[in-house]
Amino acid sequence: MTKWLLTWTATFLVLAAAEQPEAPKPVAAPMRPLPWGQLNFMQTTDTHGWLAGHLQEAQYSADWGDYISFAERMREKADGLGVDVLLIDTGDRIEGNGLYDSTTPKGKYLYDIIKEQDIDVLCTGNHELYQLDAADREYEQSVPNFKGNYLASNLDYIKPKTGEQVPMAPRFRKFTTKNQGIRVLAFGFLFDFTGNANNTVVQPVENTIKEKWFQDAIREDVDLFVVIGHVMLDGPEYKAIFKAIRSQKWDTPIQFFGGHSHIRNYVKYDSKSYGVQAGRYMETIGWMSIDGIKGKGKKDYPKELASMSFKRRYIDNNLFGYYYHTGLNETTFTTGHGKNVSKQIHEARKAEDLDELYGCAPKDLWLNRAPYPSNDSLVTWLETEVIPVITVNEDRKDVPRLALTNTGAMRFDVFKGPFTRDTTYILSPFVSKFLYIKDVPYKSAKQVLKIINSGGDFFTFSDHEATRLAPPEQMYIKSAIIAPSVPNHDYIPGAQSPLLSSAPDLIPGYTTKDAAGDDGDDTLHAPITFYPVPNVIQSAIAMPAEGDPETVDLVFIDFIKPWVLVALRFTGQIYSEADVEVYIEETLTDKMVGWIRENWKQDC
Ligand SMILES: *[C@@H]1O[C@H](CO)[C@@H](O)[C@H](O)[C@H]1NC(C)=O
Ligand SMILES: *[C@@H]1O[C@H](CO)[C@@H](O)[C@H](O)[C@H]1NC(C)=O
Ligand SMILES: *[C@@H]1O[C@H](CO)[C@@H](O)[C@H](O)[C@H]1NC(C)=O
Ligand SMILES: *[C@@H]1O[C@H](CO)[C@@H](O)[C@H](O)[C@H]1NC(C)=O
Repeated sequence: MTKWLLTWTATFLVLAAAEQPEAPKPVAAPMRPLPWGQLNFMQTTDTHGWLAGHLQEAQYSADWGDYISFAERMREKADGLGVDVLLIDTGDRIEGNGLYDSTTPKGKYLYDIIKEQDIDVLCTGNHELYQLDAADREYEQSVPNFKGNYLASNLDYIKPKTGEQVPMAPRFRKFTTKNQGIRVLAFGFLFDFTGNANNTVVQPVENTIKEKWFQDAIREDVDLFVVIGHVMLDGPEYKAIFKAIRSQKWDTPIQFFGGHSHIRNYVKYDSKSYGVQAGRYMETIGWMSIDGIKGKGKKDYPKELASMSFKRRYIDNNLFGYYYHTGLNETTFTTGHGKNVSKQIHEARKAEDLDELYGCAPKDLWLNRAPYPSNDSLVTWLETEVIPVITVNEDRKDVPRLALTNTGAMRFDVFKGPFTRDTTYILSPFVSKFLYIKDVPYKSAKQVLKIINSGGDFFTFSDHEATRLAPPEQMYIKSAIIAPSVPNHDYIPGAQSPLLSSAPDLIPGYTTKDAAGDDGDDTLHAPITFYPVPNVIQSAIAMPAEGDPETVDLVFIDFIKPWVLVALRFTGQIYSEADVEVYIEETLTDKMVGWIRENWKQDC
């Protein structure tokens, strides 16, 4: 079924486990080897604080320390082969995990842990820019931590004291690779993001590429352009950059690295330009290898490999795979540096008490792996069990109300078993508050849900601003009323083609189909179906037993306020910001934790 050599290691290794002691042991699985080339890349993106790895999913259980060991071993291997390995990170390193969100200040340990990895080119994501303090930390900590390697091609920072607007980091970087002597010019972009706090300025990519420094840079004589960005591979931003570079250099290879939409993806721009995107949450390490670049290599490169080729692979982040790809084992793999960083992560988690037990989930609840509505749907659970109980304002508790919650407020699945302090931040990292408009005519209020879910046509908000309406994994499903329960195979790389139906005991996971086919994943998995969820869900609370109420309180999560006001206007009701009041002081996350402590009390 596949031309790749599949290696099934039947012996389940008895491992010392991932370096986080509470992580599950990695499990043996059939593997595809990594294609090596003259120049090789490893990419992380959208890690969102998951530096401890996944403590409830064996296939993603390696931590940032293990990734450091992996990178060091792969660089040793590259030195032996006379080739190069470069590391890339395309942003959204923060928000989404207790390791970042639970500390005061946020990211108290995170920046010091991330900086231990030797990353060659990195950039900013939108999440680094929502809050003033996060953008400050990016400028004051991350940029110096990766001095020269951190790039900001279209992003400026405004210094708080002087109001001076300066580049967040250098616009580009030119360097020559160690073994092959390949001359690289790298850029680091952010998509045309508009939701940033007022201490940064994101310049639209269309404008940036007209600037003199960019026009000069793309005229430089180099062997390869590397364009990294917190940018979706098939978005307009990369199309514009590709066109601009090609207008000057018709033949120079260009390697793009994308991010933001949380998927594994691979895109071809032309025969010498490709883009790869490495998923999310430390689940995936992207692998890219290129052959046939005109370098001034110190070492001769085998002639038969000299023709131009690009190959990609998506590495599941676990020790079994790391041993497999390095040819090392439990005793020989881990480096002293990697081990130290794993310890650093463990100590940070301990100091923040991230394993503190809040309750015990009675079963798995899936954000996108179960149909909505259904009993296994996290969204159904939220809509029918949690929101109706927690959405109470004592002064108006008998007033009928409709509560609207954006599904994008939820970020991950809940697994049967311990629900900890850490799980809370994983599930809902945002500071989401409940607002309301009182006494809205019911005939208008009841239409709001449908209008928001019907999407783009009613709104002038860009797709990007809608990022947090629904989970980012489905952000490219455009403005359609999403039919509940219809699996959306076509859109999501990661949901198709039953692989190896005869193979025994494949663990469910990514089965990616991309521009190069269906053999990109390093680990063979049983496929998982992706079910989209609506942008917004509605819980009707304290409604009269019979008939419709005249008016209701329209309660909603603060993030969706702009959509609610537009939708109401569309029904003929003009409300303004002044009509919006706070419904509950506590956040959605705090209220949800209260519900879990109350309802999932049983011991695990
Ligand atoms: C930026 O926003 C903050 C609050 O978010 C506000 O206090 C400050 O005045 C704003 N600064 C400018 C220059 O608009
Ligand atoms: C690991 O590899 C080394 C070197 O090949 C070997 O000596 C050792 O026995 C291996 N250890 C395990 C636990 O397999
Ligand atoms: C690991 O940490 C120890 C103790 O802090 C330090 O002495 C050692 O040099 C570190 N090793 C590496 C390889 O970073
Ligand atoms: C869903 O859960 C409800 C309440 O626990 C139960 O009555 C119903 O049978 C379940 N439905 C399915 C399809 O399992």
